[in-house]
Amino acid sequence: WPRTSTRVDGALTVGGVDVRDLARDHGTPLYVIDEDDVRSRMRDYATAFAGSEVHYAGKAFLCKEIVRWLQDEGLGLDVASGGELAVALSVGFPPEHITMHGNNKSTAELSRAIEVGVGHIVLDSYDEIARLGHLAAEAGKRPKVMIRVTTGVEAHTHEFIATAHDDQKFGLSLNTGAAAEAVRRVLALPQLELVGLHSHIGSQIVDTAGFEVAARRLAGLLVQIKDEHGAVLPELDLGGGYGIAYVEGDTAPDIKVLADGLREIVTNVCREAGLPVPRLTVEPGRTIVGPGGITLYEVGTVKDVEGLRSYVSVDGGMSDNVRTALYGAEYTTVLASRESRAEPMLSRLVGKHCESGDILVRDVHLPADLAPGDLVAVAATGAYCRALASNYNYLPKPAVVAVSGGASRVIVRGETEDDLLRGQL
Ligand code: LLP
Repeated sequence: WPRTSTRVDGALTVGGVDVRDLARDHGTPLYVIDEDDVRSRMRDYATAFAGSEVHYAGKAFLCKEIVRWLQDEGLGLDVASGGELAVALSVGFPPEHITMHGNNKSTAELSRAIEVGVGHIVLDSYDEIARLGHLAAEAGKRPKVMIRVTTGVEAHTHEFIATAHDDQKFGLSLNTGAAAEAVRRVLALPQLELVGLHSHIGSQIVDTAGFEVAARRLAGLLVQIKDEHGAVLPELDLGGGYGIAYVEGDTAPDIKVLADGLREIVTNVCREAGLPVPRLTVEPGRTIVGPGGITLYEVGTVKDVEGLRSYVSVDGGMSDNVRTALYGAEYTTVLASRESRAEPMLSRLVGKHCESGDILVRDVHLPADLAPGDLVAVAATGAYCRALASNYNYLPKPAVVAVSGGASRVIVRGETEDDLLRGQL
């Protein structure tokens, strides 16, 4: 739950605002973001990684207001598309503090990145090295680039979000020699300035050992590059992927311990080889916006399946949070608009979409007197929920409101029926 959430008169409040007021003023479903929570996590990262760079991974959740918070708190940004770049530039975010990622950036995206002076472009394939080389020469610019290295680390997470083994689409393999070959190719292009290496091993990872192994391997490659080419690369980008707690019993890495550990490993490898210690960058997404977000729903129907469980249907579903359906993700949910002494019933929180896999929370105990009109809140939905939202069944995407100091304000307007029909001929 967000750092400022508590119960007042039985009702959940976040940022000092009662969820019943939020539902009345903004409707449901509603994404609610605890501004103080998110900003404090941005500051926690800036402190833990002082002397390094923290680039928030915008894919977790990006909008103009989040970009403003990043600027206030002194963080950089990682973007994965031209669209994410456009959001950042629209509010004057400095392009030199942006890193651009992607395994298939379009020519238009690469050209735009060169033109506006994006700080780093992370190269993901041989094709892209050649393509960017060509575009940079044409533009008469010399962009700073990194090479995305697949370190072969086994990340203990869902298959869809593990990215450091060889048999997946991202990056250039350390094991097969593809990374070393990519280094040769980039160094041969004077119009590209190779400043470092990048690795991202996966997402929602709670065991920090994998990050440390990846950091050691990446630093090892820096040494190899110095030995083979005489080139000293000044930067390492270690990606993101740090897990958060979703349900009781989940643990999450301590950022300070993680930061110190990563720094120590890279420092040791480089010092031993007589290399200057590179500047580190990390790219946390989920850990910054995840815990501070909740989704508020209104219960519409309750169906008891005798002897099994109760199906509690709410006014959203897999279109506003696809993570349960897509990754088997687990969430915590509670009755938010009041307190109840009724017996807990094994329940399943489901959406209103036309498929039975439209599940928000698979197994949860909710009070037996839960009824239409009650509000339920799902915790830790700040990351990868609005970002992955769809219009399945023509549901409009819910609004996002920020709460702080007893007030709420819309930071992303909810979609209307007009929005849904716009663009259709
Ligand atoms: N850097 C790179 C290059 C990435 O690909 C990602 C996430 C991050 C940083 C940030 O990772 P985070 O700190 O947020 O774990 N939709 C999935 C997660 C996909 C993550 C993709 N890349 C989910 O909902 O779990």
